[in-house]
Amino acid sequence: MTTMLPWFANNAFPLYLAPMARFTDITFRSFCKRQGADVLVTEFVMSDALLRDDPKIWETVAFTEEQRPMGVQIFGSCAKSMTAAAHLLEERIQPDFIDLNFGCPADRVTCMDAGSSLLRNPSKLAAIVEAVVKGVEDTPITVKMRLGWNNESIVANEVARLVEEAGAQAVAIHGRTKAQGYSGEADWETIDAVARERSIPVIANGNICSAADVLHLEQKTACAGAMIGRAAQGYPWLFAEIKHYREHGILPEPPTIAQRWDTLLDYARQVMARPHNEEYGNDLRWMRPKLLSLTKEMPGARRLRGDLGKVVQLADLEALATKHLRQLATNEIISE
Ligand SMILES: Cc1cc2nc3c(=O)[nH]c(=O)nc-3n(C[C@H](O)[C@H](O)[C@H](O)COP(=O)(O)O)c2cc1C
Repeated sequence: MTTMLPWFANNAFPLYLAPMARFTDITFRSFCKRQGADVLVTEFVMSDALLRDDPKIWETVAFTEEQRPMGVQIFGSCAKSMTAAAHLLEERIQPDFIDLNFGCPADRVTCMDAGSSLLRNPSKLAAIVEAVVKGVEDTPITVKMRLGWNNESIVANEVARLVEEAGAQAVAIHGRTKAQGYSGEADWETIDAVARERSIPVIANGNICSAADVLHLEQKTACAGAMIGRAAQGYPWLFAEIKHYREHGILPEPPTIAQRWDTLLDYARQVMARPHNEEYGNDLRWMRPKLLSLTKEMPGARRLRGDLGKVVQLADLEALATKHLRQLATNEIISE
Protein backbone atom coordinates (compact mmCIF):
# COMPACT_ATOMS: atom_id res chain seq x y z
CA MET A 1 0.00 0.00 0.00
CA THR A 2 1.26 3.47 -0.84
CA THR A 3 1.63 5.84 2.08
CA MET A 4 2.82 9.41 1.92
CA LEU A 5 6.58 9.63 2.45
CA PRO A 6 6.82 11.75 5.62
CA TRP A 7 9.15 14.36 4.12
CA PHE A 8 6.39 15.40 1.72
CA ALA A 9 3.80 15.87 4.48
CA ASN A 10 2.13 19.28 4.81
CA ASN A 11 3.32 20.36 1.35
CA ALA A 12 6.82 20.64 2.77
CA PHE A 13 8.41 20.88 -0.70
CA PRO A 14 11.63 19.11 0.36
CA LEU A 15 15.00 19.92 -1.15
CA TYR A 16 16.84 16.84 -2.35
CA LEU A 17 20.55 16.63 -2.99
CA ALA A 18 20.73 14.83 -6.35
CA PRO A 19 22.74 11.62 -6.47
CA MET A 20 26.06 12.34 -8.21
CA ALA A 21 28.60 9.59 -8.77
CA ARG A 22 32.03 10.44 -7.33
CA PHE A 23 30.68 13.61 -5.67
CA THR A 24 27.89 12.91 -3.22
CA ASP A 25 30.00 10.86 -0.86
CA ILE A 26 29.12 10.53 2.81
CA THR A 27 31.18 13.60 3.80
CA PHE A 28 29.71 15.87 1.14
CA ARG A 29 26.20 14.66 1.97
CA SER A 30 26.68 15.56 5.63
CA PHE A 31 27.79 19.01 4.69
CA CYS A 32 24.72 19.52 2.49
CA LYS A 33 22.52 18.21 5.27
CA ARG A 34 23.92 20.76 7.69
CA GLN A 35 23.21 23.45 5.11
CA GLY A 36 19.56 22.40 4.92
CA ALA A 37 19.22 19.65 2.31
CA ASP A 38 16.14 17.73 3.44
CA VAL A 39 16.62 14.44 1.62
CA LEU A 40 19.85 12.77 0.54
CA VAL A 41 20.48 9.98 -1.92
CA THR A 42 23.71 8.03 -2.36
CA GLU A 43 25.34 7.94 -5.76
CA PHE A 44 24.16 4.98 -7.80
CA VAL A 45 25.61 1.54 -7.25
CA MET A 46 25.18 -1.53 -9.40
CA SER A 47 22.88 -4.09 -7.82
CA ASP A 48 25.22 -6.93 -8.82
CA ALA A 49 28.13 -5.22 -7.04
CA LEU A 50 26.11 -5.11 -3.81
CA LEU A 51 25.33 -8.79 -4.22
CA ARG A 52 29.05 -9.55 -4.77
CA ASP A 53 29.65 -7.98 -1.37
CA ASP A 54 32.23 -5.56 -2.74
CA PRO A 55 33.36 -3.62 0.39
CA LYS A 56 33.98 -0.41 -1.60
CA ILE A 57 30.39 -0.47 -2.82
CA TRP A 58 29.07 -0.99 0.68
CA GLU A 59 31.18 1.93 1.81
CA THR A 60 29.64 4.05 -0.96
CA VAL A 61 26.13 3.40 0.34
CA ALA A 62 27.01 3.89 4.01
CA PHE A 63 25.37 6.80 5.78
CA THR A 64 25.09 8.26 9.25
CA GLU A 65 21.89 8.53 11.28
CA GLU A 66 21.97 12.34 11.01
CA GLN A 67 21.69 11.96 7.22
CA ARG A 68 18.19 10.49 7.37
CA PRO A 69 15.89 10.56 5.50
CA MET A 70 18.39 8.80 3.30
CA GLY A 71 17.94 6.92 0.06
CA VAL A 72 20.27 4.42 -1.58
CA GLN A 73 20.19 4.42 -5.36
CA ILE A 74 20.72 1.22 -7.33
CA PHE A 75 20.85 0.45 -11.01
CA GLY A 76 20.72 -2.72 -13.04
CA SER A 77 18.87 -4.37 -15.87
CA CYS A 78 17.53 -7.47 -14.21
CA ALA A 79 14.53 -7.48 -11.89
CA LYS A 80 15.89 -10.45 -9.96
CA SER A 81 19.24 -8.92 -9.03
CA MET A 82 17.75 -5.49 -8.32
CA THR A 83 15.20 -7.09 -6.04
CA ALA A 84 17.85 -9.15 -4.25
CA ALA A 85 20.06 -6.05 -3.85
CA ALA A 86 17.15 -4.01 -2.47
CA HIS A 87 16.31 -6.78 -0.04
CA LEU A 88 19.93 -6.94 1.14
CA LEU A 89 20.06 -3.15 1.60
CA GLU A 90 16.92 -3.30 3.67
CA GLU A 91 18.29 -6.07 5.82
CA ARG A 92 21.74 -4.60 6.37
CA ILE A 93 21.43 -0.81 6.51
CA GLN A 94 17.72 0.10 6.48
CA PRO A 95 17.71 3.15 4.24
CA ASP A 96 14.57 5.30 4.39
CA PHE A 97 13.97 4.52 0.74
CA ILE A 98 15.59 2.75 -2.18
CA ASP A 99 15.75 4.68 -5.43
CA LEU A 100 15.88 2.95 -8.82
CA ASN A 101 17.96 4.67 -11.49
CA PHE A 102 16.38 4.93 -14.92
CA GLY A 103 18.20 8.08 -15.96
CA CYS A 104 21.91 7.41 -16.32
CA PRO A 105 23.01 8.17 -19.90
CA ALA A 106 26.55 6.75 -19.61
CA ASP A 107 27.41 4.17 -22.27
CA ARG A 108 28.82 1.72 -19.74
CA VAL A 109 25.37 1.68 -18.11
CA THR A 110 23.09 1.87 -21.14
CA CYS A 111 25.03 -0.84 -22.98
CA MET A 112 23.97 -3.29 -20.28
CA ASP A 113 20.37 -2.13 -20.77
CA ALA A 114 20.30 -0.30 -17.44
CA GLY A 115 19.76 3.37 -16.50
CA SER A 116 18.11 5.46 -19.21
CA SER A 117 18.19 2.53 -21.64
CA LEU A 118 15.13 1.13 -19.88
CA LEU A 119 13.12 4.21 -20.93
CA ARG A 120 13.01 2.51 -24.33
CA ASN A 121 11.17 -0.38 -22.75
CA PRO A 122 8.60 1.01 -20.29
CA SER A 123 6.95 -2.34 -19.63
CA LYS A 124 10.28 -3.94 -18.62
CA LEU A 125 11.04 -0.89 -16.47
CA ALA A 126 7.65 -1.17 -14.75
CA ALA A 127 8.14 -4.90 -14.20
CA ILE A 128 11.45 -4.17 -12.44
CA VAL A 129 9.78 -1.59 -10.19
CA GLU A 130 6.95 -3.97 -9.37
CA ALA A 131 9.35 -6.82 -8.55
CA VAL A 132 11.49 -4.63 -6.29
CA VAL A 133 8.44 -3.18 -4.51
CA LYS A 134 7.19 -6.71 -3.81
CA GLY A 135 10.65 -7.97 -2.88
CA VAL A 136 11.26 -5.65 0.07
CA GLU A 137 9.48 -5.83 3.40
CA ASP A 138 8.59 -2.23 4.05
CA THR A 139 11.16 0.05 2.46
CA PRO A 140 9.58 2.60 0.11
CA ILE A 141 10.77 2.35 -3.47
CA THR A 142 11.21 5.51 -5.55
CA VAL A 143 12.32 6.13 -9.12
CA LYS A 144 14.60 8.64 -10.83
CA MET A 145 14.24 8.99 -14.57
CA ARG A 146 14.67 11.28 -17.55
CA LEU A 147 12.00 12.55 -19.94
CA GLY A 148 12.80 9.83 -22.44
CA TRP A 149 15.55 8.46 -24.67
CA ASN A 150 15.40 11.37 -27.15
CA ASN A 151 13.02 14.08 -28.33
CA GLU A 152 11.17 11.61 -30.53
CA SER A 153 10.36 9.38 -27.56
CA ILE A 154 9.26 11.43 -24.57
CA VAL A 155 7.84 8.82 -22.21
CA ALA A 156 7.88 10.64 -18.87
CA ASN A 157 4.10 10.65 -18.55
CA GLU A 158 3.66 7.01 -19.44
CA VAL A 159 6.58 5.81 -17.31
CA ALA A 160 5.51 7.88 -14.29
CA ARG A 161 2.03 6.35 -14.53
CA LEU A 162 3.44 2.83 -14.84
CA VAL A 163 5.80 3.21 -11.90
CA GLU A 164 3.04 4.65 -9.74
CA GLU A 165 0.86 1.66 -10.64
CA ALA A 166 3.82 -0.63 -9.88
CA GLY A 167 4.00 0.77 -6.34
CA ALA A 168 6.74 3.42 -6.48
CA GLN A 169 6.15 6.09 -3.84
CA ALA A 170 7.77 9.06 -5.58
CA VAL A 171 9.40 9.83 -8.89
CA ALA A 172 12.16 12.34 -9.58
CA ILE A 173 12.28 13.53 -13.17
CA HIS A 174 15.38 15.02 -14.73
CA GLY A 175 13.89 17.30 -17.38
CA ARG A 176 16.21 16.20 -20.17
CA THR A 177 16.37 13.25 -22.51
CA LYS A 178 19.22 10.74 -22.55
CA ALA A 179 20.30 12.23 -25.89
CA GLN A 180 20.67 15.67 -24.29
CA GLY A 181 23.09 14.41 -21.68
CA TYR A 182 23.61 17.31 -19.30
CA SER A 183 23.32 20.20 -21.73
CA GLY A 184 20.49 22.41 -22.88
CA GLU A 185 17.58 23.66 -20.82
CA ALA A 186 15.80 21.25 -18.52
CA ASP A 187 12.11 21.13 -19.44
CA TRP A 188 10.23 21.91 -16.22
CA GLU A 189 6.94 22.31 -18.09
CA THR A 190 6.84 18.65 -19.04
CA ILE A 191 7.74 17.67 -15.47
CA ASP A 192 4.89 19.86 -14.24
CA ALA A 193 2.48 18.27 -16.72
CA VAL A 194 3.45 14.81 -15.42
CA ALA A 195 3.08 15.97 -11.80
CA ARG A 196 -0.47 17.18 -12.54
CA GLU A 197 -1.43 13.68 -13.65
CA ARG A 198 0.09 11.74 -10.77
CA SER A 199 -0.91 11.22 -7.18
CA ILE A 200 2.58 10.21 -5.99
CA PRO A 201 5.00 13.11 -5.44
CA VAL A 202 6.92 14.20 -8.52
CA ILE A 203 10.28 15.82 -7.79
CA ALA A 204 11.65 18.27 -10.34
CA ASN A 205 15.28 18.01 -11.35
CA GLY A 206 17.56 19.72 -13.86
CA ASN A 207 19.16 23.15 -13.80
CA ILE A 208 17.72 24.22 -10.48
CA CYS A 209 20.31 26.79 -9.51
CA SER A 210 18.80 29.38 -7.17
CA ALA A 211 16.24 30.17 -4.50
CA ALA A 212 14.13 31.84 -7.20
CA ASP A 213 14.11 28.61 -9.23
CA VAL A 214 12.90 26.64 -6.21
CA LEU A 215 10.20 29.18 -5.38
CA HIS A 216 9.00 29.11 -8.96
CA LEU A 217 8.68 25.31 -8.90
CA GLU A 218 7.04 25.37 -5.50
CA GLN A 219 4.50 28.08 -6.29
CA LYS A 220 3.82 27.67 -10.00
CA THR A 221 3.96 23.91 -10.61
CA ALA A 222 2.42 20.71 -9.27
CA CYS A 223 5.86 19.34 -8.36
CA ALA A 224 6.26 18.18 -4.76
CA GLY A 225 9.96 18.86 -4.29
CA ALA A 226 13.16 20.02 -5.95
CA MET A 227 16.31 17.99 -6.54
CA ILE A 228 19.53 19.96 -6.89
CA GLY A 229 22.63 18.55 -8.52
CA ARG A 230 25.49 20.48 -10.08
CA ALA A 231 24.57 23.82 -8.52
CA ALA A 232 25.22 22.28 -5.11
CA GLN A 233 28.41 20.58 -6.26
CA GLY A 234 30.29 23.87 -6.40
CA TYR A 235 28.18 25.71 -3.84
CA PRO A 236 26.66 23.45 -1.18
CA TRP A 237 25.61 26.59 0.74
CA LEU A 238 22.78 26.87 -1.80
CA PHE A 239 20.45 24.85 0.44
CA ALA A 240 20.87 27.34 3.30
CA GLU A 241 20.42 30.19 0.86
CA ILE A 242 17.12 28.77 -0.44
CA LYS A 243 15.76 28.21 3.04
CA HIS A 244 16.75 31.69 4.19
CA TYR A 245 15.14 33.22 1.11
CA ARG A 246 11.96 31.23 1.64
CA GLU A 247 11.70 32.42 5.22
CA HIS A 248 12.86 36.01 4.95
CA GLY A 249 12.40 36.95 1.29
CA ILE A 250 16.03 38.01 0.94
CA LEU A 251 19.25 36.18 0.27
CA PRO A 252 21.67 35.73 3.20
CA GLU A 253 25.27 36.91 3.10
CA PRO A 254 27.27 34.33 1.13
CA PRO A 255 30.06 32.50 2.97
CA THR A 256 33.39 34.29 2.87
CA ILE A 257 36.20 32.80 0.81
CA ALA A 258 38.00 31.94 4.06
CA GLN A 259 34.90 30.02 5.23
CA ARG A 260 34.78 28.21 1.90
CA TRP A 261 38.39 27.17 2.23
CA ASP A 262 37.78 25.99 5.81
CA THR A 263 34.95 23.82 4.51
CA LEU A 264 37.00 22.51 1.64
CA LEU A 265 39.98 21.65 3.87
CA ASP A 266 37.72 20.03 6.41
CA TYR A 267 36.12 18.03 3.61
CA ALA A 268 39.50 16.90 2.26
CA ARG A 269 40.70 15.87 5.74
CA GLN A 270 37.56 13.83 6.34
CA VAL A 271 37.65 12.13 2.95
CA MET A 272 41.34 11.31 3.42
CA ALA A 273 40.55 9.69 6.77
CA ARG A 274 37.99 7.31 5.30
CA PRO A 275 38.80 3.58 4.94
CA HIS A 276 38.31 3.78 1.18
CA ASN A 277 41.27 6.11 1.00
CA GLU A 278 43.74 3.64 2.51
CA GLU A 279 44.99 2.61 -0.90
CA TYR A 280 45.98 6.21 -1.72
CA GLY A 281 47.83 6.96 1.51
CA ASN A 282 48.61 10.67 1.73
CA ASP A 283 48.09 11.23 -1.99
CA LEU A 284 44.92 13.19 -2.61
CA ARG A 285 45.24 13.54 -6.38
CA TRP A 286 42.37 11.11 -6.92
CA MET A 287 39.97 13.60 -5.35
CA ARG A 288 40.98 16.46 -7.63
CA PRO A 289 37.60 16.52 -9.44
CA LYS A 290 35.87 17.00 -6.08
CA LEU A 291 38.26 19.84 -5.17
CA LEU A 292 37.85 21.47 -8.57
CA SER A 293 34.09 21.49 -8.21
CA LEU A 294 34.30 23.03 -4.74
CA THR A 295 36.56 25.83 -5.96
CA LYS A 296 34.87 26.56 -9.27
CA GLU A 297 32.76 29.38 -7.81
CA MET A 298 35.71 31.06 -6.09
CA PRO A 299 37.33 34.22 -7.44
CA GLY A 300 40.37 33.41 -9.54
CA ALA A 301 38.99 29.92 -10.21
CA ARG A 302 40.91 29.52 -13.43
CA ARG A 303 44.27 30.14 -11.78
CA LEU A 304 43.21 27.92 -8.89
CA ARG A 305 42.46 25.17 -11.36
CA GLY A 306 46.06 25.20 -12.51
CA ASP A 307 47.36 25.33 -8.93
CA LEU A 308 45.13 22.44 -7.86
CA GLY A 309 46.76 20.41 -10.61
CA LYS A 310 49.99 20.54 -8.58
CA VAL A 311 48.45 19.56 -5.25
CA VAL A 312 49.52 16.11 -4.07
CA GLN A 313 49.18 16.12 -0.30
CA LEU A 314 46.98 17.80 2.26
CA ALA A 315 49.82 20.15 3.20
CA ASP A 316 49.93 21.38 -0.43
CA LEU A 317 46.21 22.08 -0.30
CA GLU A 318 46.57 23.97 2.97
CA ALA A 319 49.41 26.00 1.47
CA LEU A 320 47.28 26.75 -1.60
CA ALA A 321 44.45 28.01 0.62
CA THR A 322 46.84 30.34 2.43
CA LYS A 323 48.29 31.58 -0.87
CA HIS A 324 44.86 32.16 -2.43
CA LEU A 325 43.58 34.08 0.61
CA ARG A 326 46.76 36.19 0.62
CA GLN A 327 46.37 36.96 -3.08
CA LEU A 328 42.78 38.05 -2.45
CA ALA A 329 43.81 40.22 0.49
CA THR A 330 46.49 41.96 -1.56
CA ASN A 331 44.18 42.35 -4.57
CA GLU A 332 46.34 40.11 -6.75
CA ILE A 333 43.02 38.45 -7.50
CA ILE A 334 40.00 40.69 -7.71
CA SER A 335 37.31 39.37 -5.39
CA GLU A 336 33.93 39.37 -7.09
C1 LIG B 1 29.03 14.03 -12.00
C2 LIG B 1 27.60 13.59 -12.01
C3 LIG B 1 27.27 12.34 -11.50
C4 LIG B 1 25.94 11.91 -11.52
N1 LIG B 1 25.63 10.70 -10.97
C5 LIG B 1 24.33 10.31 -10.88
C6 LIG B 1 23.95 9.12 -10.20
O1 LIG B 1 24.79 8.39 -9.63
N2 LIG B 1 22.63 8.81 -10.18
C7 LIG B 1 21.67 9.59 -10.77
O2 LIG B 1 20.48 9.28 -10.72
N3 LIG B 1 22.01 10.73 -11.40
C8 LIG B 1 23.29 11.11 -11.45
N4 LIG B 1 23.61 12.30 -12.03
C9 LIG B 1 22.53 13.17 -12.54
C10 LIG B 1 22.07 14.15 -11.45
O3 LIG B 1 21.51 13.47 -10.35
C11 LIG B 1 21.03 15.13 -12.02
O4 LIG B 1 19.93 14.38 -12.47
C12 LIG B 1 21.57 15.96 -13.16
O5 LIG B 1 22.86 16.45 -12.88
C13 LIG B 1 20.62 17.14 -13.46
O6 LIG B 1 20.49 17.98 -12.34
P1 LIG B 1 21.33 19.37 -12.24
O7 LIG B 1 21.04 20.14 -13.51
O8 LIG B 1 20.79 20.02 -10.99
O9 LIG B 1 22.77 18.99 -12.13
C14 LIG B 1 24.93 12.74 -12.06
C15 LIG B 1 25.26 13.99 -12.56
C16 LIG B 1 26.57 14.42 -12.54
C17 LIG B 1 26.90 15.80 -13.07
